[in-house]
Amino acid sequence: MLQIISDLEDSQYSGKTTLVRVDFNVSVNNGLIAEDYRIRMTLPTIEYLTKRDSKVVLASHLGRPQRPQSRYSLRPVAKRLSEIIGRSRVRFVDNCVGEIVRKEIESMDKGDVLLLENLRFHKEEETNDLLFSEQLASLADIYVNDAFSTSHRRHASTYGAAKLFNTRLAGFNLNKEVEYLSMIKENPIKPFTLVVGGVKIKDKIGALENLLPKADKVLIGGAAAYTFLKAKGVRTGNSPIDFEHLSWVTNALSTFGDKIMLPSDHIIASSPQDSYASMVKGDIPDNMSGFDIGNETVERYSAEVGAKGLGTVFWNGPMGLFEVGFFANGTMNIAKNMALAFWRGSKTLIGGGDTLEAMKKAGVSEGEVSHVSTGGGATLRFLAGDEMPGIIALNEK
Ligand code: 3PG
Repeated sequence: MLQIISDLEDSQYSGKTTLVRVDFNVSVNNGLIAEDYRIRMTLPTIEYLTKRDSKVVLASHLGRPQRPQSRYSLRPVAKRLSEIIGRSRVRFVDNCVGEIVRKEIESMDKGDVLLLENLRFHKEEETNDLLFSEQLASLADIYVNDAFSTSHRRHASTYGAAKLFNTRLAGFNLNKEVEYLSMIKENPIKPFTLVVGGVKIKDKIGALENLLPKADKVLIGGAAAYTFLKAKGVRTGNSPIDFEHLSWVTNALSTFGDKIMLPSDHIIASSPQDSYASMVKGDIPDNMSGFDIGNETVERYSAEVGAKGLGTVFWNGPMGLFEVGFFANGTMNIAKNMALAFWRGSKTLIGGGDTLEAMKKAGVSEGEVSHVSTGGGATLRFLAGDEMPGIIALNEK
């Protein structure tokens, strides 16, 4: 059980500085933020702390910079956060440790919010350097992790610095992620339907090994489906095959074949740029590749996802190359059926950046899903039962 921010007496926050590790790793183009879901999800935690008169210091990474570079600056995020909070300016400081940061914190009033510059402008963040951890920890009295999506990283801000605080707490978003994903991992409400798409089988194997035994139905789409079809002896043309994991797929099919559903028809083309796409049932011709599930598969999958309104549905990964109009139908239908399942009473969960983007493209709002995970890699690692240093650090002495 995690200790969360509401477990601490209100009076303990007043006048104290709280360092909150958030994940504001969002895509920033020319200073504009396309998708601010990760930012919005931290609001309950930030406002809980500001209302209790804490000085709130937010720390995050953005991208994978090798050195400080303006395109990886978090300054645009501070601006967006100010717009979202709507009540006051969110302060921003050009570093995440050192005298300049200390002075900025000293000048803050109770209830003020300060965003630090990108943690990864210091290589010591990713090496979990002790000195850097001490510098970070010296900035505040209380540590909060609300960055579930970075909790699979053993970095200074998620692990080393966290362990130097006496008071370490989970933020509301991290706690919500852990609760929902633990339910899926340990005791999903039955019947449990798993919808898996996307390209990389490798990243999903750990999660699938845990979830396949618990699932009642597993619907496979996206590029991953062609490796499953290949393992069954179906001709897959030029579709991408993950030969490295073909034997894992063959084993999965022999153990769980009765619950695994595969596409029975496909939208095919010679390349993603091909302006002529067609539908084929069964085998895919030699010079063609599959780019989406076909209409019959859409119907079969929709009946499993949206029609019943029972149990739990977890969706990770698009059904096809939905960024291209010709190949978007399967993914858009799954997204709409996820909303139908939710309206009818299923617990629905969506994980992975691509899947959130697909959901938005289908016109399905976040309010039409029980939980949209902020994590990509972290969600799959958690479901695989891998070590999560950012969560361990909250519990370990
Ligand atoms: C993510 O976007 O998955 C997290 O922010 C972690 O980023 P990273 O893979 O660069 O550590």
